[in-house]
Order: sequence, then structure tokens, then C-alpha cells
Amino acid sequence: MNKIMILSGAGLSAESGIRTFRDHDGLWENHDVMEVCSTQGWIADRKKVTNFYNDRRADLETKEPNHAHKVLAELERAYRGRVYHLTQNIDNLMEKAGAKDVIHLHGTLTHLRCEACTEAFYVGYANQEADTSCPNCGNKRVRHNVVMFGEAAPQYEHIQRAIRECTLFIAIGTSGAVINITNIAKEFKHSILIDPKRAKTASIYEPHDYIDEYFEHFIQEKSGDAMEEMMRLIEEHTKG
Ligand code: APR
Repeated sequence: MNKIMILSGAGLSAESGIRTFRDHDGLWENHDVMEVCSTQGWIADRKKVTNFYNDRRADLETKEPNHAHKVLAELERAYRGRVYHLTQNIDNLMEKAGAKDVIHLHGTLTHLRCEACTEAFYVGYANQEADTSCPNCGNKRVRHNVVMFGEAAPQYEHIQRAIRECTLFIAIGTSGAVINITNIAKEFKHSILIDPKRAKTASIYEPHDYIDEYFEHFIQEKSGDAMEEMMRLIEEHTKG
């Protein structure tokens, strides 16, 4: 059975109006990533980090799934059990588009996590307030349910499992700055890269200069515009 591994990044939600991280005017251009997305930053100033995620959670309420989210949610339904969608995104736009099985490798903005019992609990778009406590154990030391630089990303085990189980790898809207998509593409005979920009590989020791040279197909389009060609290639692969 041909299973499909999808790894998506901020570029998937860009057309819904959610800023990416490393593009021009991206999130990390307007915030010091180490101040608001690292364990050191969290220890140094919990309030600043909590406010940062409260602002992003409130902003998310105004955002809607785009065409690519809807196509990927429909793909998950039509190919139930054969799509392994891992996302680096913490937004809930795939779920808003109807997806049920997306794995959020870097956590979820619509949940908080208890620092005592580690239970994650749904808060939707609400602010974390000073008196917010864990519904499971009552502890008041709760935090954003987002993986920060410097801490473990427990869901990463799914990456190796997806590489083992899948025959087609699709990278959508990710620079590969955190999860190296070049190395994953090397594990696959069949692969598709979807990104409007051509980018160089991170390491000068790679035999190829560009990330897309490690992929069987490169659809140099925004996610929404790439869906038709992506679906054609998926149908070709799963028929084969
Ligand atoms: N459609 C598809 N791709 C797009 C679009 C679009 N409309 N707009 C931009 N992109 C591409 C960019 O060219 C870039 O390659 O999306 C990618 C976004 O890269 P990043 O901003 O680095 O985001 P991402 O790869 O998701 O970052 C990974 O880094 O900061 C951490 O934890 C954070 O999960 C995040 C991780």
C-alpha cells in the first residue's frame, strides 16, 4: 500500500495570512526568536513569552483555512490511513479544514500545558491568564503547548516512522531550517517539494547546491497554486 508522508511548514499557512518565520517580514524579523521561543527566554521572562503566545492565539481566531489546507484535509479523508501528515505548524487551520489526523511536531497554539503533570488542555483562542490552572491537577504553573528551542520535541519519533512506512515524501512550505528536508528526501525514491522560492542547501558539503535537486519533483508555486499538480502526481504514484 503506497503511503504518503507530508511534512508541512509555515508556508502552508502563509496564504491564510499567518506570517512565516524566515521570509522577509517574517515572525523572526520582528521578534528575537531566542527571547520568545527558547527555554532560556522562557526562564528569563515568562510574562513576555506568555504574552507573545497570547497575541498569536488571539490572531489565529481571525484566520481561515486556505485552498491548500482544504485539499490536504480532503486528501486525508479520501486516502484514510495512507496519509502521514506531520506539520511544524502550531495553528489549527488543518483541523478547521476538517483534518483529524495531523501530527503537530512543534505543539498546538490552541492548547496550554501543565508544567506539573504535563497534561495539555484545550483553551481555543483564549488568553492564558495569571489564574489559569490545570484542569487535570489544579496546578497554576501552566504554559503554552509549543515546543521551544532547547527542549525535546517528543513527536519527532513520527519522522523516522513515516520514512519507514511511506513511499512518497511531500515537503510543503518549509525552509528545512529546523527539520532537514534534504536528508528526508534522500530516503525516498519519490518526492515532491512545494515552495515558491528556490533555496540552497544548508551545508556547503552537499553534492547539490539547491534543496530541490534532492527531490524527484519541484513545484515552484505557492501552496494553493501547487495543489492541482500535487494531486496529479499523488494519483500517478498511488495508481503505479
Ligand atoms: N506557499 C508555500 N510555501 C511558502 C509560501 C506559500 N505561499 N510562502 C512562503 N513559503 C515558503 C518559504 O519560501 C520558506 O521556504 O515557506 C517556507 C517557510 O520557512 P520558515 O519561515 O523557515 O518556516 P518553517 O520551515 O515552518 O520553520 C520551521 O522553525 O521557527 C521554527 O518552530 C518554528 O516550526 C517552525 C520551524
